[in-house]
Amino acid sequence: MKTVVTSSPIEAADFIQNGGTVAFPTETVYGLGANVFDATAVAKIFEAKQRPADNPLIAHVANLAQIRELASEVNENARNFIDALFPGPLTLVLPKSDRVPLIATAGLYTIGVRMPRHELAQRFLEACGVPVVAPSANLSGRPSPTTWQAVLEDLDGRIDCILEGEATEIGLESTVVDCSSSVPMLLRQGAISLEELQAVIPETVLYQATDGEAVRSPGLKHKHYSPRASILLVEPGSEISDPRNSAYLGLGRPDGDFKKALLCTSIEIYAHVVFEFFRECDRESIDAIYCEIVPESGIGAALMDRLRRAAER
Ligand code: TXA
Ligand code: MG
Repeated sequence: MKTVVTSSPIEAADFIQNGGTVAFPTETVYGLGANVFDATAVAKIFEAKQRPADNPLIAHVANLAQIRELASEVNENARNFIDALFPGPLTLVLPKSDRVPLIATAGLYTIGVRMPRHELAQRFLEACGVPVVAPSANLSGRPSPTTWQAVLEDLDGRIDCILEGEATEIGLESTVVDCSSSVPMLLRQGAISLEELQAVIPETVLYQATDGEAVRSPGLKHKHYSPRASILLVEPGSEISDPRNSAYLGLGRPDGDFKKALLCTSIEIYAHVVFEFFRECDRESIDAIYCEIVPESGIGAALMDRLRRAAER
């Protein structure tokens, strides 16, 4: 299939209405979308990404009314998060309505719901007229795409359309919070920190998988965010013995003569560039990427989560 690249949200929405797949920008990363109520279209997402069928998708909405089409119940906790933090980089897991096909939720009776604050994403979702399920628009396992070119690199010829926008602002995926039971549970760290969630609902806890318990967020068990190069986490100022075909990404100047280095002036910028840096290193056939460890507050917690997963082999 030919992948159309367009900057028109109307043209892109047309593909969604006709059962196609469209990659679109949000403030976190680019997503690969389809009409949530069209099971055949949703199947195309899993096919294009080679995504395991047990990994559920997030539904994106243009307005609050669409949340009612997706969720059978919006409890008080969810309402409070919505009032305080929508639109934004936050996904709430809610009990799903009967209209949502089980393929979209990977067989779960809950659905992740998010309202992006990105202007072009909002115009696109508005034009689609239906909620759009979208995982990150990368081949499964690869770093999430933060530019439309990165989407093309992974999915050219595998999807119908790319809605072309700027590089994404945040660069890491949304915070995922399970609101389907009485205590809100943070399943995936993101730009909205645990502290910000607790400012809305103090009881919110960080989910920690315990042995033997079914994984609450299936996506957490899959391999993630990995470039071909190996990722090594290092404390600031560490001495690296053989940096020849290696790259360095961090806040401080590294000790060693790296083939490639990117120094960030803040943790926010580090988060913004990390996935594209991984992709660049692969294009340049770098063997190893040394990533500086950062303090785990604010977006630092989400960044460290992604770096640790990328470092797992
Ligand atoms: O920022 C983002 O969240 C981006 C943009 C496109 O919105 N999307 C994204 O989707 O990162 P994806 O599919 O790459 O990650 C979705 C995560 C996975 O870890 C998945 O397991 C979890 O959300 N998730 C989705 N639905 C869930 C549900 N019903 N229950 C528990 N976890 C769920
Ligand atoms: Mg993903």
